[in-house]
Amino acid sequence: MSLLEVRNVSKSFDSLKAVDDCSFSVEEGTITALIGPNGAGKTTMFNIINGLHRADRGEIRFNGKNIEKLQPHQITRVGLSRTFQLSRQLSDLTVLENIVVQSPVRGVGGLIRSAILGPEREKAMALLEFVGIATLANLPAARLSYGQKKLMDIAAGMMADPKILLLDEPAGGINPALLDVIIDRIEKLRAQGVTIFIVEHNMDVVMSICDPVIVMAYGKVLASGSPAEVQKNDEVLDAYLGVG
Ligand SMILES: Nc1ncnc2c1ncn2[C@@H]1O[C@H](COP(=O)(O)OP(=O)(O)OP(=O)(O)O)[C@@H](O)[C@H]1O
Ligand SMILES: [Mg+2]
Repeated sequence: MSLLEVRNVSKSFDSLKAVDDCSFSVEEGTITALIGPNGAGKTTMFNIINGLHRADRGEIRFNGKNIEKLQPHQITRVGLSRTFQLSRQLSDLTVLENIVVQSPVRGVGGLIRSAILGPEREKAMALLEFVGIATLANLPAARLSYGQKKLMDIAAGMMADPKILLLDEPAGGINPALLDVIIDRIEKLRAQGVTIFIVEHNMDVVMSICDPVIVMAYGKVLASGSPAEVQKNDEVLDAYLGVG
């Protein structure tokens, strides 16, 4: 049984078929990539999987159960976390507070005027330590660099102890030094047993750490296979890898 199974999922925005009859699966223990040109439907697919968007049709099974009718917070509780292409931090809150509001037992309402103490604080600090920004824990999140926000997002996603972590362009716009940190942390998470499903345009990242690779274009799944296989696929080359 696959950890995550997407079956015949479609989603239109007015006349635009953003996701068009897509089926694929993500196996437990992998770092699986979802690639494709701008507008291919990758973020829309993530939004459907984590319950932000409702698919027009199709089925999503996670850990053997259908999740396509659940709300995002319910999906987090069953073990699926995600980060966003554009970091969505609450700028006035500290980095530590931003991490804690992602906890499935909290949420922003639970944070107001209530101190972050005990095991929750320890867990959040351990995750900030893991991604290398623990010294910034008490700064307002707005003060972080773009790359540091990406690291904060990964830590936040881990607060719920997910079985699978969906990362939407974790390396987008990152400087080379932080890029190495992000790659290393993603591999460490996988080594700890977290399955990773990653949308990424940086082909060095995709080809070095991801297997398999699923390719989308114009809302459809075009191909999937090992990095070497998809790099040889003519349709993929036409749609994506040959461009730019
Ligand atoms: N909420 C929305 N309302 C209307 N159209 C949308 C919405 N979200 C996405 N789209 C459209 O759906 C298509 C797929 O967008 P999506 O963001 O999923 O692409 P993507 O593969 O993530 O692209 P990128 O690599 O640029 O992030 C695009 O044409 C986009 O404009
Ligand atoms: Mg996107």
